[in-house]
Amino acid sequence: MARKKITVVGAGFVGATLAQRLAEMELGDVVIVDIPATEGMPAGKALDIMESAPIYGYDARVSGTTSYESTAGSDIVVITAGIPRKPGMSRDDLLNTNAGIVKSVTENVVKFSPNCILIIVSNPLDAMCLVALKTSKFPKHRVLGMAGVLDSARMRTFIAEALNVSVENVHAMVLGGHGDTMVPMPRFSTVSGIPITELLPKDKIEAINQRTRDGGAEIVKLLKTGSAYYAPSASTAEMVESILKDKNKILPCAVYLEGEYGVDGVFVGVPAKLGSKGLVDVIQLNLSVDERAQLLKSASAVKELSAALK
Ligand code: NAI
Ligand code: 2OP
Repeated sequence: MARKKITVVGAGFVGATLAQRLAEMELGDVVIVDIPATEGMPAGKALDIMESAPIYGYDARVSGTTSYESTAGSDIVVITAGIPRKPGMSRDDLLNTNAGIVKSVTENVVKFSPNCILIIVSNPLDAMCLVALKTSKFPKHRVLGMAGVLDSARMRTFIAEALNVSVENVHAMVLGGHGDTMVPMPRFSTVSGIPITELLPKDKIEAINQRTRDGGAEIVKLLKTGSAYYAPSASTAEMVESILKDKNKILPCAVYLEGEYGVDGVFVGVPAKLGSKGLVDVIQLNLSVDERAQLLKSASAVKELSAALK
């Protein structure tokens, strides 16, 4: 059976780390693409990843390029192209620069892989997904955004630390836009099936929620020259795996909503079932009045930002 083909656009920190993870997981052959000005860099990183294969024992092929011809016929294309945050910058400061980049990348991708599933990583995430949807004219089940898996992984890390339990026992749910208004959902965050609302006091949960909302900024402040990439690439790889293995995992992802949760015409993070066709289903949680209000507030922030797209 021929291996699946995955293109990763942007050979920076997130893109290159993702390519390495995808190869190690043997999810498919990987093509890494960057701009012509980086000539040699994507090919160099790809070769370096290939040369780890004999040690790790994977047979996936990894190649790097600055043109799109060799991306033709990709099953999945992940877009990580853009500029990352610097200290003091919000994700939203990246809006119009990255919108131009995501638009031109999407045009190139669609030319060569008209049937692919797009996973957007570039920030500001929810608005960039809308740019990709509109530019590609793909149906909504083939345009997804990665953010919720990352934000939930951060929350899971903090919950596991607070309770001194294995991260494997911890599930968490963070919904809404990938910004300051994101909505951690303690009632739907569990340790071996037990909601954390039964295991931790309110103030501790609120501290975990806030650290989760600030999770990206915490890393930016420490790194000083860029933003997170180990957890973001791991999160994207989980989405790719659920699609290529048709696992039907339910993962919080940015998807285009048309009335679900009372939200219409924007991408917002909600629990989504991912299978071989991309988005299989949006899972409708029974939210409390307060949870729903927070989600709608976050969706409004995304809507406002998306409306500012030039
Ligand atoms: P980076 O600066 O290390 O890499 C970005 C790469 O994109 C660079 O190699 C650059 O040359 C390339 N690029 C720029 N314009 C391009 C174009 N037109 N075509 C192809 N490649 C192009 O940045 P990093 O850390 O990899 O982050 C990438 C993006 O992902 C940023 O926008 C960042 O904010 C976002 N991000 C989003 C996360 C999420 O949860 N959704 C998590 C982490 C990062
Ligand atoms: C993060 O949350 C920068 O969006 C990126 O780390």
